[in-house]
Amino acid sequence: MSRHFIPVIILLAASVLFLSLDDQSPVKKVRITQEDSLAALNKKHVDQVMRWLGDRAKLPAEEVFKDIEIFRGRTAEEMIDIMDRRYRSTLGVSCAHCHDPFDWASNEKPEKEVTRAMVAFTQKINNDLLANMQGLKSENPRVRCSTCHRGNAKP
Ligand code: HEC
Ligand code: HEC
Repeated sequence: MSRHFIPVIILLAASVLFLSLDDQSPVKKVRITQEDSLAALNKKHVDQVMRWLGDRAKLPAEEVFKDIEIFRGRTAEEMIDIMDRRYRSTLGVSCAHCHDPFDWASNEKPEKEVTRAMVAFTQKINNDLLANMQGLKSENPRVRCSTCHRGNAKP
């Protein structure tokens, strides 16, 4: 009698194994959905700013935005591109990590001021320290935001 159950048990064990090998586990599915909605939200922010800029996108950032220190001399569209593809993605955050999306010029979020300090910090490492270091392999060794952050706000 019990011998008839052996194939059933093997089949059950195999299907449990098969299910656990499925890499689309519920946890992973949720994470992908969250990343997707974050990407969609950021795209919405970028589109919103680009629409607001209209044909002023190629003007210097300081002429169209309210409070520009780092990006003086760069065009408005270049600045938004760096904000999206360098800052946001290197830190693995959304625009709202550094901004109030209803008031982009506000400096209330400490992360925005830290970003300005991080730019100065990175320039100091590059221009004062790395540039004068002997024995390096590269001709022009540099650290970038991504050298440290690699997708994390807290490296
Ligand atoms: C890691 C922090 C950080 C992230 C993320 C970030 N920004 Fe910024 N953003 C800044 C800083 C710093 C400035 C000021 C730049 C300067 O001083 O030249 C700024 C300035 C701006 C301004 C100009 C506001 C004004 O009128 O002065 C806009 C618009 C803006 N960001 C849009 C965005 C959008 C859209 C995103 C997402 C795609 C984004 N930012 C992501 C840090 C960030
Ligand atoms: C040499 C390494 C290094 C480089 C280069 C670097 N950072 Fe950082 N960054 C750090 C460290 C360390 C912290 C502090 C994390 C903590 O709070 O412990 C930090 C923190 C930050 C924070 C605050 C994060 C938060 O959510 O509180 C922001 C924003 C930031 N960095 C932006 C930048 C940007 C933009 C660049 C490029 C211009 C950059 N960093 C380059 C090491 C670096």
